[in-house]
Amino acid sequence: MDLGLKDKVAFVAAASKGLGRAIAEELAREGAKVVMCSRDEAAIGRAAREVADATKGETVAVAADLSTAGGCERFIRAGLERFGRMDVLIVNAGGPPPGRFEELDEAKWDLAYQLTLQSAVRLTRLALPELKRTKGNIVYSTSTSVRQPTQYLNLILSNSLRGAVHGMLKTLSKDLAPYGIRVNALQPGRIDTERVRQLDEIGAKAQGKTPEEVRRGYETGVIPLGRYGEPREFAAAAVFLASERASYITGVSLQVDGGMLMSMF
Ligand SMILES: NC(=O)c1ccc[n+]([C@@H]2O[C@H](COP(=O)([O-])OP(=O)(O)OC[C@H]3O[C@@H](n4cnc5c(N)ncnc54)[C@H](OP(=O)(O)O)[C@@H]3O)[C@@H](O)[C@H]2O)c1
Repeated sequence: MDLGLKDKVAFVAAASKGLGRAIAEELAREGAKVVMCSRDEAAIGRAAREVADATKGETVAVAADLSTAGGCERFIRAGLERFGRMDVLIVNAGGPPPGRFEELDEAKWDLAYQLTLQSAVRLTRLALPELKRTKGNIVYSTSTSVRQPTQYLNLILSNSLRGAVHGMLKTLSKDLAPYGIRVNALQPGRIDTERVRQLDEIGAKAQGKTPEEVRRGYETGVIPLGRYGEPREFAAAAVFLASERASYITGVSLQVDGGMLMSMF
């Protein structure tokens, strides 16, 4: 199937490793030019070079902190200066820390708000003029916690703020449809990245288990497909939603979780 992504320009936020990195690579494999950002200049530069080498594609790395207005602007501006257009925006960011409600002060809530909700609002706002011109699309990467709050650790920041991103995207899918802009989301369940491994370590300490035991518990008791997902499996779903072959799909939110969520929709 030709996904129609050749020579399109895709912006992938938070892409030095994990889910964002995998999405950038799969988009480049389909012939898209890819703008990648993260905070660590050396790490994002390395990731962009590796993706370009692996795919013979064109990438550009931007050092930017997405929890700030200036960082979001730098990411979008640098990519537009380099490639002159935007067809796809993948909204992604680092995850907020775990913690129980009573452990989280005003500053922690504010940082999580900036990182998880405001980055999505700002990137969307900055991208809109260009996406209207190209009739492009947005894919928000969120979490299965928007359907079922994460149980294994107290991730109340993520559970609260990602729901707001979903409210925004569902509203936008109607508002932006007249411009030909599609808006969708992906919900990772347990995809094997550094973030999930760190969370397993924290969970293991809390439960008096090893991280391997925590993981095995999920693989044998919670995830019907019996394993964590690979980042490239998640990326494949992102690339499809971002492609022209998903031209009649907007306003959806797709779980990529090996069947973990038991809800009907
Ligand atoms: N993996 C899963 O199964 C899963 C499940 C549910 C939700 N999620 C969520 O999906 C997102 C990505 O997860 P992941 O597993 O790919 O995590 P990861 O492997 O830890 O990668 C996170 C990426 O985000 C970048 N980043 C972090 N904070 C940033 C900031 N303020 N500005 C710009 N870039 C930033 C990091 O690079 P720098 O450090 O260089 O900035 C890195 O490239 C997170 O929000 C996570 O909570 C993941």
